[in-house]
Amino acid sequence: MTGESSGLIVTPGVVDEVPVLEVANVVKRFGDTTALDGASLKVYEGEVVAILGPSGSGKSTLVRCVDQLEAIDGGAMFLDGELLGYERIHGHLRPLTDAGRRRQRRRMSMVFQQFNLFPHWSVLRNITEAPVAVHGIPEREARARAMELLERVGLSDKADAYPRHLSGGQQQRVAIARGVAVDPRILLFDEPTSALDPELVDEVLQTMKQLASTGRTMVVVTHELEFARNVADRCVFMAEGKVIEDRPADEFFRDPRSARLRAFLARSGRSPIEVEG
Ligand SMILES: Nc1ncnc2c1ncn2[C@@H]1O[C@H](COP(=O)(O)OP(=O)(O)O)[C@@H](O)[C@H]1O
Ligand SMILES: [Mg+2]
Repeated sequence: MTGESSGLIVTPGVVDEVPVLEVANVVKRFGDTTALDGASLKVYEGEVVAILGPSGSGKSTLVRCVDQLEAIDGGAMFLDGELLGYERIHGHLRPLTDAGRRRQRRRMSMVFQQFNLFPHWSVLRNITEAPVAVHGIPEREARARAMELLERVGLSDKADAYPRHLSGGQQQRVAIARGVAVDPRILLFDEPTSALDPELVDEVLQTMKQLASTGRTMVVVTHELEFARNVADRCVFMAEGKVIEDRPADEFFRDPRSARLRAFLARSGRSPIEVEG
């Protein structure tokens, strides 16, 4: 099938590799609202995947389900081929214990719109806490690594500062360093620049771009179309809880296939013609 009737538009290609993340037909309901209505997505090692779509299309719910902040009502998710949220006992699937879920969540990091740094901890402690307390990295080693990461995000002079003394852009760069500090298999971003004053957006996007260039596997929910076009390998368009279009970034903008994506790009001031060349 072609066109919108088939639901999902994907560039065909054979990828003979276990994805780092697979989301397969995931359904998530909140009461009468179906936030995810059979959403599917695969993310391979080293890929940067941008998720775009109108407000309410299920983007946050998707990454929150992957991070197991929400339980799903249907479908399945896999991290490196391992089923997320469930374990198989004598052939039966059982929801994972909290400890089991925590073990799986250790292999991913989420960067939130509102940074979510611990206000009563220094920048350094915010970064070293999970490596030390959760991953058992020796304190000295975790600190050295945190200082390296702070240097990389341009904040080595802020190690002893508290989050309230930092701008939103600086806080988000700390949150990104914190996410990387546990060396996750995948980094999930949910509109990391949406809470920032416009003049602070670029420094965070630059930090993410640099991170992408180091080969990190990243899923980025964003409204920043330029960033998606320039940094993402693939762009995914969601509408009404489904992945409608999933294509290499250049094709996504140059040749959007679904009417809904075309309308979305036009509304965002990016008609296909404008982005050509
Ligand atoms: N905790 C919740 N309780 C009830 N409804 C929710 C909750 N979270 C999301 N929703 C609903 O699910 C749908 C998808 O929301 P969301 O994933 O936040 O979309 P997006 O991030 O694309 O804007 C929306 O209709 C939203 O109102
Ligand atoms: Mg959202």
